Amino acid sequence: MDAFHLINISDLSDPDLAELFRVAAELKDAWRRGQTVDSLRGKTLGLIFEKPSLRTRVSFEVGMNQLGGRAIYLTQAEIGLGKRESVHDVARVLSGFVDGIMARTFAHETITNLAAHSRTPVINGLSDFSHPCQALADMFTALEHFGDVRGRKWVFVGDGNNVARSLCVLCGRLGVKFVLSAPKNYELTEGFIADARRDVPDLDYQLVSDPLAAVAGADVVYTDTFTSMGQEDEKTQRNRIFAPYQVNSPLLAAAGPQAAVFHCLPAYRGVEITDDVIDGPQSLVFQQAENRMHLQKAILHLLLSKPRRPL
Ligand code: CP
Ligand code: NVA
Repeated sequence: MDAFHLINISDLSDPDLAELFRVAAELKDAWRRGQTVDSLRGKTLGLIFEKPSLRTRVSFEVGMNQLGGRAIYLTQAEIGLGKRESVHDVARVLSGFVDGIMARTFAHETITNLAAHSRTPVINGLSDFSHPCQALADMFTALEHFGDVRGRKWVFVGDGNNVARSLCVLCGRLGVKFVLSAPKNYELTEGFIADARRDVPDLDYQLVSDPLAAVAGADVVYTDTFTSMGQEDEKTQRNRIFAPYQVNSPLLAAAGPQAAVFHCLPAYRGVEITDDVIDGPQSLVFQQAENRMHLQKAILHLLLSKPRRPL
C-alpha cells in the first residue's frame, strides 16, 4: 500500500485500490470459514467521534478485535478536540500511543490537520466533505455482486453530499459511469467536479435532475439520507425539496430488474427510501453494511503495519 493516510479516495493509487479489494475478499473468505488472521496483534486503533455512529464504530472496533488488536473509543466530550486541546497537540500525543487513528468529524479540515501532525496513519471515518470507507465498501459490494464494474451505470439519487463525493471519484477511478440526480442547489458543485476531473481525467459524470430519467438502465440505484448529521435544522425544508427523489417502487421499476439498490444507512424509511424497496429482492443494503467491516479490516491490515513516522 503506497498511501500512509486514507483521507480521500484520491490518496489511493490504482495498485492500492486493487490491493484493498483483494485483501478484503481474502479476509472475508477467511472470516466465513472461521479462520483467524491476527496480523494486528498488539496494535491499537484510536477512534475519535464528533458525531454518532453504529456501523463505523462497531465495524472498526470488531475489525480490530478480529485482527488481534484493540480499539479505544474517544468522544468529543472526553478529548475536546480543538477545544480542550488543539487538533495539532491531540494528533502528536495520541499518535505516540496508538498505531492508527480513525476520525469522524464535522469539518474535513480537522481530519487533514490530524493527519498533518500524526506519526501513525489517519483514516477518515466520515467528514462533512467525504466518506471514503463507505464508498470503498460499496464498491467492494458491487464487485461481489457484478463480478466486474467497468462500464456500469451508478446512479445516486438525492443530496450531492459527502457519500456522493467519495462515490463519484471512486466510480471515475474504476471506469463506472456516475449519474447524480439531485434537486437544484443540492448538486455536486462545479468546483468539485473540476477537481475530480484533475484526479480522474476520464471521469464519466452526468447530472440528470429528473430521477425517473436518471435511473433508466442503472446497475446501481443509490440513496442516502436527505438530511446529513449537522443539518438537522434544515430537515423540514429538505424533506419537502427532496420528496420527488424518494427511492420507491415506481422509481425502481423505471430503473429495471437489473438494478441493485444501495443505501449507506442509517435509513429514514418512508422518507428517502420505502420499506418495500430497502427490504425487497433488489436490495443489497445489508450486505453493503456488513462489508464495511471486511473492507475496513483490509485498510487496517495494510495501514497499521507501516513503520511510524519520527517524532
Ligand atoms: N454508514 C455509516 O457510516 O453509518 P454510521 O453513521 O452508523 O457509522
Ligand atoms: N450523509 C450522511 C451519511 C451518514 C453515514 C451524513 O453525513 O450524515
